[in-house]
Amino acid sequence: MSSEKPTRDDDRRFETLTVTHGEEPDLSTGMGDVTSPIHLASTYAVDGIDMDVALEDLDPDSDEFLYTRLSNPTRHAVEKRIAALEGGDHAMAFASGTSAIVSTVMAAVEPGDHVVAFEDLYGGTNTMLKELFRDKLNVAVEFVDATDPEAVRAATTDETALLWMETPTNPLLRLCDVEAMAAVADDHDALLGVDNTFLGPYFQRPLELGADVVVHSTTKYINGHSDSLGGVAVTDDDEFAGEIGFLQQVGMGNVMAPFDAYMVLRGLKTLPLRMRQHETNAAEVATYLESHDSVASVHYPGLDSHPQHDLAVEQTDGHGGVLSFEIDGDLADVERFVAALEEFTLAVSLGGVESLIEHPASMTHSPLPAEERAELGITDTLLRASVGVEHPKDLLADLERGFEAMDAGRTDASDSSGAADASEAPASTD
Ligand SMILES: Cc1ncc(COP(=O)(O)O)c(C=O)c1O
Repeated sequence: MSSEKPTRDDDRRFETLTVTHGEEPDLSTGMGDVTSPIHLASTYAVDGIDMDVALEDLDPDSDEFLYTRLSNPTRHAVEKRIAALEGGDHAMAFASGTSAIVSTVMAAVEPGDHVVAFEDLYGGTNTMLKELFRDKLNVAVEFVDATDPEAVRAATTDETALLWMETPTNPLLRLCDVEAMAAVADDHDALLGVDNTFLGPYFQRPLELGADVVVHSTTKYINGHSDSLGGVAVTDDDEFAGEIGFLQQVGMGNVMAPFDAYMVLRGLKTLPLRMRQHETNAAEVATYLESHDSVASVHYPGLDSHPQHDLAVEQTDGHGGVLSFEIDGDLADVERFVAALEEFTLAVSLGGVESLIEHPASMTHSPLPAEERAELGITDTLLRASVGVEHPKDLLADLERGFEAMDAGRTDASDSSGAADASEAPASTD
């Protein structure tokens, strides 16, 4: 478990870094705030005119700030903390996960380059790669089944500048072997980027497995309370960090706001506690669903039945709080099931302390054409759950309520068709 794992740059353990790193009280200010204040100032007074100081010489670690888009003390604190948790040298915090991804991909590719991406990516990233990078910026994008490292190897060429992966994927919880992806990228001098939103650094640290850059939607587990939007990119590569930082601060100016940085710093303090409970609850829910007659399949890497369970055990410290499952029925059954739930709220997104459920075909993955969804295995009876930290018995009772409502609806439907037949019968005898 990561609770016994020292972190790379620091002899303090993960749980300690989540609480205080980047936020140590500074008594020299005369205040000694135990938590970082929200620094709202957009600009900072400077000492005097100095022709020899360039913008890049300003060092936020020495409290040198000029303008908040370039750097801000609250954002800097969150960047330092997330860099330490992911085991990287540099972190750049953005206004959303999407802006972290677009800036990272943009920093890695040029027109004419080639990108190999997991076919089962978050719908927004899939659309971004196609409609922005492929259609507008002349970057060839090839989507492959990255559960198979040989498929990725076959698609990668010397024109490939970037491999872009998520693991586990959304919504089918497929995995890719990050070490194998890193080997393919190295063989072609390409970069490997991994979206680590689903597991977060408590359960998975892709940089340790050979990735060049890790991104997160901090909107999800990193903040953990469904009340802040943000993203982050983390890398050890100084030059690549410079490119991403240029896009964050100057090329796009797409930075995490001080209030969100404060929320993320606060949310991170309980990341290990939350992740452990998310995982315990998700495992209980997955086991319950797997044994239920009305469920056709369950996708959760922690289950022995998951086809890549061994890889999950090998490369991660835990399996997280997201799972998906297929109802053995039709769309009307799914609608009745979802409508009866009281603890699982029907909503997109994931990673908050409250349990959410969503219907990928009509919600997160509705932008994908129906044939593409079918090819990926995203059926109309698939549901994705983000299992929260409530008492697991209440969550199981809620799911049971859903299945009972589904069964009752089926009985009503067959009774009313029977009643219709009965009412027609006398007419036919007349
Ligand atoms: C895996 C993954 N990456 C990235 C994003 C995009 O993040 P944001 O909504 O913060 O832009 C999401 C959003 O759901 C996601 O699930």
